[in-house]
Order: sequence, then C-alpha cells, then structure tokens
Amino acid sequence: MSGQEIIAGLDLGSTKVCAIVGEKTEDGGVDIIGVGSVPSKGLKKGVVVNIESTVQSIRAAIEQAEAMAGVDINTVYAGIAGSHVRGFNQEGVAAIANREVDHADVLRVLEQAKAIPLPGDRQVLHVLPQEFIVDEQDGIREPVGMSGVRLEVRAHIVTAATTSVQNIIKCAERCGLYVAEVVLQPLASSDAVLSEDEKEIGVVLIDIGGGTTDVMIYVDGAVVHTSVIPMGGINLTNDIATGLRTPMAEAERIKIKYGCASPDLVDTEETMEVPSVGGRPARVVPRQLLCDIVEPRVEEFFSACRHVIEETGYGSMLASGAVITGGSTLLDGMSDVAERVLGLPVRRGHAVAVGGLVDVVRSPAYATAVGLVKYGARQVADELPMVDVLEGGSAGRLGRKIGQWFREVF
Ligand SMILES: Nc1ncnc2c1ncn2[C@@H]1O[C@H](COP(=O)(O)OP(=O)(O)OP(=O)(O)O)[C@@H](O)[C@H]1O
Ligand SMILES: [Mg+2]
Repeated sequence: MSGQEIIAGLDLGSTKVCAIVGEKTEDGGVDIIGVGSVPSKGLKKGVVVNIESTVQSIRAAIEQAEAMAGVDINTVYAGIAGSHVRGFNQEGVAAIANREVDHADVLRVLEQAKAIPLPGDRQVLHVLPQEFIVDEQDGIREPVGMSGVRLEVRAHIVTAATTSVQNIIKCAERCGLYVAEVVLQPLASSDAVLSEDEKEIGVVLIDIGGGTTDVMIYVDGAVVHTSVIPMGGINLTNDIATGLRTPMAEAERIKIKYGCASPDLVDTEETMEVPSVGGRPARVVPRQLLCDIVEPRVEEFFSACRHVIEETGYGSMLASGAVITGGSTLLDGMSDVAERVLGLPVRRGHAVAVGGLVDVVRSPAYATAVGLVKYGARQVADELPMVDVLEGGSAGRLGRKIGQWFREVF
C-alpha cells in the first residue's frame, strides 16, 4: 500500500479529537478504513488551550485509527475553527501576459487577491475563487485559454489567528505527524455533507458541535461567507446542569438520553429521573421541563445563525435552504426549531459518497473528519499539469488549490 493512497483527517473538536483514515479507490473515490475518537480535554470553543492534553488526545485518536486501519499515519489534514476565523470577499486584478489566459495568470491574480494587508498575528488560510472576469466578461469559472488583456477574480478569503494555526501544527508534530494542510472545519464538513447541486443553487451549512457553531454559505457553487459562532452543545449541557441542579456529567447523559428541542414532540405525561448534587436524593421530573430548558437555547443558536445570514444579504439566495450537521444536531427536534427560526427548509447532513466503514462514520459528529479525508484525497488526486509546474515554494499550495477548484467546478 503506497503512502499516496492513504489519507488521514484530524478533527480537533471541543469535545472530541477524531482521526479518520481513508484509502483512495481505483475509481477516484475514498473508502474509510479506520476511525479513532477520544474525548478532547485541551480545546475550548474550537481553540487549543492546553498543548499537553491535546497532544495526548491526538496520540490516542491516531493510535485507534491506525489499529483499526492496519496502517501507519504519517500525514494529516487538520481542521481548524474558533471565533478567530474570518471570511471576506476580495477582488484581484492582473494583466494577462500573452493575451491568452494561462495558469500562471490565474495564479498571479489569486496571489493578488490574497495580498491584503493583514495584522502580523493573522494569516490567510484559504483563497476560494468565486468567478473570474476576463476584460468585461464576468461569470467565468475556467478562464484558461480565453483571450483578453485583463484578468480579474472574485474570491472568498479565509484568515485565522497565526497562533491558533501554529498550535494545531505543533500538537500534531509532537505526535510525529506532518500536517499537509490546516483546513477550515466547515469547509471540510461541506465536502462531506453538501451536494454540488445544493452549492450551486445556494445553501447554508450549519455545523453545531460542542463548543462552536460554524456557518458557511454557498451561492452559485462558491463560498461567499464563513463565520464561527462560539456556542454549541456544551452550552446546552451547562443550562441543563444549572436548570435541573445536577452534575455536568449527568446533565450530558440526560441531554443525550432525553433531550429534545421541541416540546411538541414530547408527551406531557413523560418523566425522567434526575440525580441531585450534594448527596440529595434523585428526583423524578417531567421531560417537558428539559425541553423548556433546551428549546430557548437552541432557538438562540439558530437566531444567531439567522442574524449572520441576514447580515450577509444572501438570505434570499438560499434555494436549497439549510443543512445542519455536527454532534448537537442529534438532539431530537433540532430540524423543527431550525426551520421555524431560520424560515428555510432544513435537512440533517451526514457524510455521503464515501465507501468503507460507511455506517461507522454516518454520525453528523464525524462530518468534519470525513470531509478532511475527502478534501485531502482531492489534493493528492490533483494531476493537473499546472500543479507540477507550480509545485514547490510558496506557490505550491496555491497551485494545488487552483487545481482543486478547477476539479470541483468541472
Ligand atoms: N444524541 C445527542 N443529543 C444531543 N446532543 C448530542 C448527542 N450526541 C452528541 N451530542 C452533543 O454533540 C456535541 C459534540 O458534537 P461534535 O462531536 O460535533 O463536536 P466537536 O467537533 O467536538 O466540537 P466543535 O466542532 O464545536 O469544536 C456535544 O456537546 C454532545 O453533547
Ligand atoms: Mg466539530
């Protein structure tokens, strides 16, 4: 088995660190052959806050995945999130050197779009092209070969705090892993759960994990907005612990066993047992009480998402509605609340078009890690001639990205 055929995704989440190994198939797809998932203790709201704990979690998750897959993992595609992440749309312009657009022109115009003044503590993570404009002609996705004198690009640029990126790389390297690329988590999740059609006619992806809610909007097949809201399932667990006066671990258990975001779905007669704190006896309370605690917070999540969507001005362009994923969307009634608050059709997203351990990785909690594998597989698969020409040096990464984008579009 050559190293080229094995791709590993490393998702550093607020509640779990997850490693997923995929193997490239002959038809260009990916089979999932190993999964490792352990509780994460070193991350808060998507950001590494304790290097040693994170290193231990990564090591354990990688070992599990390696044992299941029967392969060694040397290289990973690592996910990043946190409220330090910013996305914005930017334009770039370049002269077309020989009156016909070639790959070097495309690379130059993307470099130009990327060349924005950034504070020293931030770096560009992704340059995601939306459309090219050759002279006056806009809406072009493949400009190579077109005649003209002026090439413009509209692109979505994602930036992140350099220290957060470095901490992820540092933790992985301490485990003997080489980080091929640090990828924005919702970009990876989109790869796993969204269809090309959805991206084309407009969709918002909402990944509700433990510590963050990631929002990514696609219009006309391209990313137009990214944001990370620092709220997630941990807030629900906190509310339950306070509201029912029970320890956090019990609150988490109760949430997973009885939790429901929509009181309409719960029988008014239904009850549940709640352990108390400080040696007091357990109590039996109506399940409805749990809904009363959970519902307003879930409404708050989706209100925040709606606010983000409204602010971008893309709300009316989301014909495919919203796709929700992430572990917290396993909560009953989540889609109902989402539809009501967002005013959009909502479906739950789980990883699609992947072979191998399909059932194991079907959970929405694995969407990011599976997406990282799919993302990585595409980079490895990139056989465009321009990539060979441009590989190496600082252009290598961007060259691969352009290649990747062409592949996505055609
Ligand atoms: N059946 C369930 N019902 C309700 N919540 C659930 C259920 N299963 C898992 N969760 C919640 O999902 C959250 C974890 O989701 P996920 O694994 O996507 O997060 P993460 O990737 O670790 O965190 P993040 O992406 O926010 O950094 C936890 O808060 C957990 O309580
Ligand atoms: Mg996550």
